[in-house]
Amino acid sequence: MTDRMISPNTNQEEEFLEKTLRPQYFAQYIGQDKVKQELAIYIQAAKHREESLDHVLLYGPPGLGKTTMAMVIANEMGVNIRTTSGPTIEKPGDLVATLNELEPGDVLFVDEIHRLPRVAEEMLYSAMEDFYVDIMVGQGTTAHPVHFPLPPFTLIGATTRAGMLSAPLRDRFGIISHMQYYEEKDLKEIVQRSAEIFQTEIVEEGAIEIALRSRGTPRIANRLLKRVRDFAQVQANGVIDRKIADKALSLLQVDSAGLDLIDQKLIKTMIELYNGGPVGLSTLSVNIGEERETVEDMYEPYLIQKGFLKRTPRGRVATALAYEHFGYSYQA
Ligand SMILES: Nc1ncnc2c1ncn2[C@@H]1O[C@H](COP(=O)(O)OP(=O)(O)O)[C@@H](O)[C@H]1O
Ligand SMILES: [Mg+2]
Repeated sequence: MTDRMISPNTNQEEEFLEKTLRPQYFAQYIGQDKVKQELAIYIQAAKHREESLDHVLLYGPPGLGKTTMAMVIANEMGVNIRTTSGPTIEKPGDLVATLNELEPGDVLFVDEIHRLPRVAEEMLYSAMEDFYVDIMVGQGTTAHPVHFPLPPFTLIGATTRAGMLSAPLRDRFGIISHMQYYEEKDLKEIVQRSAEIFQTEIVEEGAIEIALRSRGTPRIANRLLKRVRDFAQVQANGVIDRKIADKALSLLQVDSAGLDLIDQKLIKTMIELYNGGPVGLSTLSVNIGEERETVEDMYEPYLIQKGFLKRTPRGRVATALAYEHFGYSYQA
């Protein structure tokens, strides 16, 4: 995928940046109040009973703080966290090796859990339910299963869509948390907190401007802040105010609703080529040169939440609001 401003994916340099900005405890984790409140209760109860926390599934679009939340949970529980991801587990042995490292109460974080190979997923069933795995040892006629007990642990899975998980796996999570796009006031706070870590001066209106254009996503807010900061250094004594933020973000082609070029292209294609729809997801994806899954997981959810796009049984439809935002006249 191209290196776009709102791209929810990260590169190495950005991963380093994210580490320095990552909240460690609930107290620093801004927003997601419902998720936080619920988890705080379960954590308190588990600690009180001196048990491992129930397995947790975190789902929501990229960049909303799922990985961060997994780390916060481990910190709040006072346990270690081991991290792996669906695509890096190729064979059951990879999973066994990871499980083997767990100490009682530890967190095993499995990112992109919907991409686990089938055999590894099936192994997780007994691991999650009764803390053991059966592994096949030997080959041919000498092959036999070996019962391998595990310490009680907490599996935290992250996925962009809960619907992509098989029912047996989903059912084994005691706690399922849906991460929402952030409200503007929370994003403003995140931007202010990050600016402080960067030791960059920012006025409130500057933080609001960045918050408004961050697609409800902390990762994007931090990314935009970093770019605006460069801009402010060169053009405005380093202080970020509304004007410099607006100027920088316009240059980066992030529009007033936080939509980037692909978002804009998506809506404009619907309006100009398909009369506003309904148009099928595959057709739309081909037209804008993105994968169907990418459109569905990353672009649509925000456009839907913003009221620019609707999913109907016959396809995607651009709303009156979308026509208005892009300056087209709308006929119902
Ligand atoms: N609630 C939050 N408060 C402050 N910063 C956050 C919050 N959630 C996410 N971030 C920031 O956004 C970045 C991306 O979050 P991450 O947990 O990697 O998202 P995800 O795993 O959902 O893709 C983190 O490095 C962190 O700095
Ligand atoms: Mg993540």
